[in-house]
Amino acid sequence: MNTTILADESSREKECRKHRLRAEIKHADSVGVHRLRRRLMSELMRWVDADAASISVLLSSELLTNAMKHARAPGGDRPDVALLALYGDGHLLIEVTDPDPRPPCPHQAGEDDENGRGFDLIDALATEWGVCCQAEGKTIWFTVAAQSVPSPSRGLVEDRPLSGAA
Ligand SMILES: Nc1ncnc2c1ncn2[C@@H]1O[C@H](COP(=O)(O)OP(=O)(O)O)[C@@H](O)[C@H]1O
Ligand SMILES: [Mg+2]
Repeated sequence: MNTTILADESSREKECRKHRLRAEIKHADSVGVHRLRRRLMSELMRWVDADAASISVLLSSELLTNAMKHARAPGGDRPDVALLALYGDGHLLIEVTDPDPRPPCPHQAGEDDENGRGFDLIDALATEWGVCCQAEGKTIWFTVAAQSVPSPSRGLVEDRPLSGAA
């Protein structure tokens, strides 16, 4: 297991700034999670290799779904949930922040348990992960090793002749 608890947000973000996506789901719901997952996939596919992108989307989806299922805003409402994705120096960093200060409780799921496997997945597929709890909420983060892909060149696409043009 590679779990690390880091209190200092800037220390894990400082090396990771080549690409950046920040998004928020208001009153987290399944449609919002679905939309954000799609948006994240299309963004990450422009940054990094397909394996790293799909692992990161899978794990992000677990964390977003957890926030939706388990976290509560102070009045007991559904929480607003924020996602931050950063890429640089060979790894993706994803953070999911919700307003519920209670930490998650990863546990060993039994063979027949239908729930309780989210953190098993994160443990198995992330390079590192951790939780940063504060009075006003918490951030659960993970990193995944990733290779940069060349960005598409607008010039090349625009210069290509139109097929069938007279
Ligand atoms: N964002 C969260 N806020 C509060 N508690 C959480 C959060 N995410 C997870 N938890 C707690 O951690 C437990 C383990 O999460 P997980 O392994 O994903 O299992 P599951 O979601 O299937 O219960 C959850 O059952 C829940 O009690
Ligand atoms: Mg879960």
